[in-house]
Amino acid sequence: MPGRFMSFTIAIDGPAAAGKGTISRALAKHFGFAHLDTGLLYRAVASKVLEGQDPHCAAQELTPADIVRDTLRTAEVGAAASKVAVLPEVRAALIAFQRSFALRTGGAVLDGRDIGTVICPDAQAKLYVTAAPQVRAKRRLSELLATGAKTDFETVLSDVLARDERDMNRAQAPLVAASDAVTLDTSQLTIEAAIQAAIDVVEQQRDAI
Ligand code: CDP
Repeated sequence: MPGRFMSFTIAIDGPAAAGKGTISRALAKHFGFAHLDTGLLYRAVASKVLEGQDPHCAAQELTPADIVRDTLRTAEVGAAASKVAVLPEVRAALIAFQRSFALRTGGAVLDGRDIGTVICPDAQAKLYVTAAPQVRAKRRLSELLATGAKTDFETVLSDVLARDERDMNRAQAPLVAASDAVTLDTSQLTIEAAIQAAIDVVEQQRDAI
């Protein structure tokens, strides 16, 4: 791939800490595609808003250097990201960049909340990656503790649930599985099994075109 395709887009959506990032990076490596973690766009806008900038200006002026800052993965920035993500003008300012990334020659994997529904409704492959809230909170807790953050399971679980609630119930581009996405529940899967299942789904969707 892309081979007979001009471009090939894999759209991955799902709630916080479901395994989207790990699966998307592995798919990109397997197929030789570029990967965009679109959550970083919202996290980068949020981090500028926490520094006092206007959300719309921050989104319009975002540069590639802003999404590689190493402070974007904190729980504070994650919570702020889901708050700026409800603003229609912020979402609109980020659409063109995501769509042009998706159509790049050589193939692309994008992960986020609205990739299969709003950003790339014509993606050749779509996955909705999910897991039980307790499992997601446990995974996110390990990630945060590994970075030296001081937190506990109850705090992380309530953050995950609050973010699900905001992301699924906002008016604009709410988190929902696209009607043509295949759902992958990773609650009981090892990382290796989840990656293999995702590769199988993408290959089936590709072969069905
Ligand atoms: O890594 P995690 O799943 O915790 O979150 P993320 O993907 O970095 O996204 C952070 C926040 O950005 C989410 O809670 C969403 O509110 C927002 N987001 C969005 O609205 N649309 C996207 N395509 C990606 C993220």
